[in-house]
Order: sequence, then C-alpha cells, then structure tokens
Amino acid sequence: MLDKVTELIGDVQAFKAVSKEEIEAFRIKYLGNKGLLKELFTEFKTVDASMKKDLGQALNRLRNAATDKVKELNDAIEDTASSKAIYGDLTRPSEPIQLGSRHPISLVRNRIIEVFSKIGFTVSEGPEIEDDWHNFTALNLPEYHPARDMQDTFFIEQDPDILLRTHTSSVQVRYMEENEPPIRTISPGRVFRNEDISARAHCIFHQVEGLYIDTDVSFADLKQTLLYFTKEMFGKSKIRLRPSYFPFTEPSAEVDIYWGLETEVDYKITKGTGWLEIMGCGMVDPNVLKNANIDPEKYTGYAFGMGIERIAMLLYQIPDIRMFYENDVRFLEQFKSVL
Ligand code: DAH
Repeated sequence: MLDKVTELIGDVQAFKAVSKEEIEAFRIKYLGNKGLLKELFTEFKTVDASMKKDLGQALNRLRNAATDKVKELNDAIEDTASSKAIYGDLTRPSEPIQLGSRHPISLVRNRIIEVFSKIGFTVSEGPEIEDDWHNFTALNLPEYHPARDMQDTFFIEQDPDILLRTHTSSVQVRYMEENEPPIRTISPGRVFRNEDISARAHCIFHQVEGLYIDTDVSFADLKQTLLYFTKEMFGKSKIRLRPSYFPFTEPSAEVDIYWGLETEVDYKITKGTGWLEIMGCGMVDPNVLKNANIDPEKYTGYAFGMGIERIAMLLYQIPDIRMFYENDVRFLEQFKSVL
C-alpha cells in the first residue's frame, strides 16, 4: 500500500490542467467525499500497526500534495484570467508596425548633399523670410532692375522690403558675408514665387544653391564640377552649357544634360531633343563679391542653382509637381525603399 501511495504522490505532483473543469475533476478524484484519499484512509485503519507510522505520513503527504496542487492550478488560471482582462490576449499576433518613408524631395536633397559633400562642400542655410538686400540688391539686382520681374515675389512688408525669398541665391550672400574664402558650400531650401499653380509650376518649391570661392577659380573648374555631379546623380556623362543671363553671374550659362532618346518617356521629357535643362550657373559677378566684402581682385568663384522638384520629377518620372504637396500616402508609399 505504501508503494501505491508513493506512486500517487508522484502522479499528483506531475498533474497539469488548463481548465477549471479539469481541476475540479482532479479535486473530486483525490479529495472528494468519495475520493481516493477517503478510500485510502479507510483502508489505513485495517493495516498492521507496524506499518501505520510510515503509511500515515505518506497519506498526509498525498493529501497535502493534492490540496496544494488544486490551489496552485486555480491560482494560475486566475492570473491568466486577470492579465487577459488587463492586457487582452497576450499571445495574439501584434499589430503590424507601419513604417514611414522619406519624402521624394528629401531623398533627392539628401542625395545632392551627399554628392557634393564628397568633394568638400559644406551645407549652409538661410532664412525663408528675407530682406531686399540678400534676395536682390546684393545679387546685382538693384531696384527697378528688369530681372526682378522674372521672379514674382511675395512681399510681406514694404519700406524696407521684407519678402519670401524667391531663390536660395540669397544664402550665397549671407554665407559670403559671414565666411572668408576659400568657400565651398551648398544651400538647400524652400523658395516662394507668386505663380499660378499648374502641373509644372508651384508657388512653393525647393532649390539647391552652390557656391565656390577661392583664388584662381575658373570656368573650367565649374564645368568639371557639374560633370562630376551629373555623373553621380544621373549616371549621365554628357553635358552642355548654353550661354544665358543671370544678374549675379558673368558669364552665365544654363546646363543641359544629355538624357538620351531610348524610350518613349525620353522623347517626351526632352521634347524629342535628348537634352534636358537642369540648372543655371556662372562665374560670380565681381559686383556680388564686392557687395559681400570679398575682394574681386584676389578671389573668383562660381555659383549654380537647381530646382529639387524638377530633378525628383526626372528621376522618378513624376508627371505633376502638385503631387509633392498633396501628402497622398499612395504616392508617398512608393518611395519606401529608394535611395
Ligand atoms: N537663382 C537662380 C534661379 O532661381 C538660379 C541660379 C542661376 C543660381 C545661376 C545661381 C546661378 O547661383 O549662378 O533661377
């Protein structure tokens, strides 16, 4: 009988249950009015006196083990029930985490910064609300200069004029006023023009300005830098510079890259020529250097400026500039894994 009781203690200790019903059945089996312990204690009365001590102890152990087991299992079930009430089902699959994506304008801006920082350009910024001096006058655009009309300006205050900058060239002036050559900097930022909004134009857009000032900077340096940029940015290695006019540079040029005519889209975006205009550039006009307290006898430099939207539209074949500002997730989600 002792062996049987010892075996039962083992069974009790090994018992597992997950439902209240199972625990109750277990309790009835061992501890119930007609349960095993009751039976065993009845049998115990009939055993030989010499066996009573050991057997009595074993039976007590069995009863304690069964009582403890019932309590332990009930507690465990209550714990899960209360944590379920607080946290819900902890084993359920979690909500999928929504990863955001960078805006295509940021992607292109970061890429431009990366390309120019490899050849020693730093990043500088200036204010979006500008004064007349930094946006126009210091850039060789005095009052009543006809070129001012090309940039339809949002004015905030008049006399003295405070306005939303129409280009990032204003940062050139600020940077030259605050730093001595050699200067190598690019200035990305938001610009504003009072223009009708269409698929190709917006009243808010982004530009990157570039400025390089040192002794003996030549037009050849400018050309080489632009070639390096177009190779890195677009993987294209043919550019041409068309003479142009900007008040702040002399000579001035517009830069075209040879995009090619391989696909139907190429025909469309290059209007059948294979060439695409991507920026304006030139040698910084001596007047601009003077206005920023840099000696034009000692230093020369080049500058360039490009629109980020235009480049993003080219790279990702975005047909309408307004898509950048609509915040439609179906559009933005497409840039999850680029650059
Ligand atoms: N500021 C010009 C614009 O907004 C772009 C530009 C052209 C910047 C030539 C330059 C430059 O620095 O040299 O259209």
